[in-house]
Amino acid sequence: MASSNTYIVTGPTSGIGFCAAIDLSEHALVILVGRDRGKLEGVQTQIERRGRQALSVVCDLSDPASVRRATQEIIALDLPITGLLNNAGVMLTKASQNALGWDMTFATNHLGPFAFTEALVPYLPDGANVVFVASGVEDPERPTVKVMGLRGGRYISAEASARGEWQQPGSKIPGMDAYATSKQCNLAAALALSRALPRLRINAVEPGINPATGLGGANGLLRFVFGQIITRLPPFNRYRSTPERAARVITQIVIDTSIGTGTYYDHNGQTMRGSSLVHDHAFQDRVVAETRAFLSSATA
Ligand SMILES: NC(=O)c1ccc[n+]([C@@H]2O[C@H](COP(=O)([O-])OP(=O)(O)OC[C@H]3O[C@@H](n4cnc5c(N)ncnc54)[C@H](OP(=O)(O)O)[C@@H]3O)[C@@H](O)[C@H]2O)c1
Repeated sequence: MASSNTYIVTGPTSGIGFCAAIDLSEHALVILVGRDRGKLEGVQTQIERRGRQALSVVCDLSDPASVRRATQEIIALDLPITGLLNNAGVMLTKASQNALGWDMTFATNHLGPFAFTEALVPYLPDGANVVFVASGVEDPERPTVKVMGLRGGRYISAEASARGEWQQPGSKIPGMDAYATSKQCNLAAALALSRALPRLRINAVEPGINPATGLGGANGLLRFVFGQIITRLPPFNRYRSTPERAARVITQIVIDTSIGTGTYYDHNGQTMRGSSLVHDHAFQDRVVAETRAFLSSATA
């Protein structure tokens, strides 16, 4: 299949990722990466009906073997990958484990996307864009995080996170320490990799509060309270967005060939700051080193 550009989107079957896949398909061939073949093919058909091109690659990001297979499949396609959007994520309110016993949220949101990105990096041309969809919940000082009684990212180590252990005292809201820590690691890894790989453009985006998405599988009560009540009130309403709008902002970053690297963008596409910890180079490098060590020892 001839194409001068190819974009990869993880989690294109719902919410922000679906809208971003549609938007990106206006610019180039899109490789749709998700865990459900039927859903991927549904999105692929929608893109093809619009006269655009897409391919589907099955990948369960919570499963390292699946990540390995998927990246090998993508590499074998030998397409010029000019953009990788790490969007897929879950926000589980009940702790669960993958087949290896790892915390499902941490495995899906951080370990999988990290391994996926590292496997593809050697095949990305100079100047390629890599974008991680992060979340402001990692920052304990953010007004919305404080009001909700969340504690921000609670990283101890990659190994402890895989065991489902978070720095105490954590949040009383089930699942939120896991989610916030996975997003803390997304952002820390993006910023560390941007310094280590200056030939690429590696950035992160906080997409705003998007109650109209699947919210990463959050349960019905949380979705109702969050979507219909909380996000209409200050301080939440200033971050409220829609998946279409978030996708437009993200797509612009993924396709921009003049953009810099190592920037964290907000839901309006403006530069923002995360927690002070996540901007600390030593912390960023520790997250990357410990994630690599954990993945290589656990999957050796
Ligand atoms: N919505 C918000 O307000 C908000 C705020 C901040 C950050 N975010 C982040 O934005 C990103 C997109 O979230 P969203 O709100 O659009 O959620 P969503 O509608 O639930 O979409 C999540 C996507 O991730 C995929 N996914 C989940 N587990 C996976 C796995 N193990 N392997 C591969 N794909 C998997 C889902 O696939 P299936 O269709 O198969 O389930 C779906 O395509 C996430 O990283 C989320 O943390 C969202």
